[in-house]
Amino acid sequence: MTFTVAIDGPAAAGKGTISKAVAAHFGFAHLDTGLLYRAVGRRTLDGEAAEVAARTLRPEDLERDDLRTAEVAQAASKVAAIPEVRAALVDFQRAFARRAGGAVLDGRDIGTVICPEAEVKLFVTASAEVRAERRYLELTAKGHVTTLDAVLADVRERDARDADRATAPMKPAEDAVLLDTSAMDIPAALAAAIAQIERKRPGRG
Ligand code: CDP
Repeated sequence: MTFTVAIDGPAAAGKGTISKAVAAHFGFAHLDTGLLYRAVGRRTLDGEAAEVAARTLRPEDLERDDLRTAEVAQAASKVAAIPEVRAALVDFQRAFARRAGGAVLDGRDIGTVICPEAEVKLFVTASAEVRAERRYLELTAKGHVTTLDAVLADVRERDARDADRATAPMKPAEDAVLLDTSAMDIPAALAAAIAQIERKRPGRG
């Protein structure tokens, strides 16, 4: 059985948390596609050309423990606007999406470009202020030193770059279900996502 759940949305919307929990709930595999762009961005900060880094991405690049910083997020969003970088990452993502047993992919263009045929498409969002606060708490809990203002500025700058780029801009697919989590806690957002997936599972209405 193949079954693809595409979860897109802006920075720090909670896609990662929801995707991981949904994958665990249904026993699907999970791919955080943002990590691919973060790993490429990380290598550009180390001095490599983005296109070369994308073409030669290695499993260990995804295991580095410094991919979650705001500096790497900004680098990711810059390399993500380069068509050759995106093209180099397509096949891996598509193969992952169709693996047997079901897959959840989260990112910006999963429902629009990577898996337009996905059985379930969610676009998870929340106000920029709510998203910045969540990311601020996440970063400071991990020991990063930052301010709420700096995180909000990062979120806004990346959203603008991600939405305005010519190649695979961030936007909801026409058939995506919008999930605004501004006023939802994690269990509520997860329950809403699971309900959408249940409706589309094989053998259900
Ligand atoms: O966790 P957060 O939402 O802050 O970011 P992420 O999902 O790790 O993505 C980091 C950056 O990678 C984004 O700002 C996008 O520029 C880029 N990205 C993308 O272009 N396409 C994807 N499918 C996933 C991420």
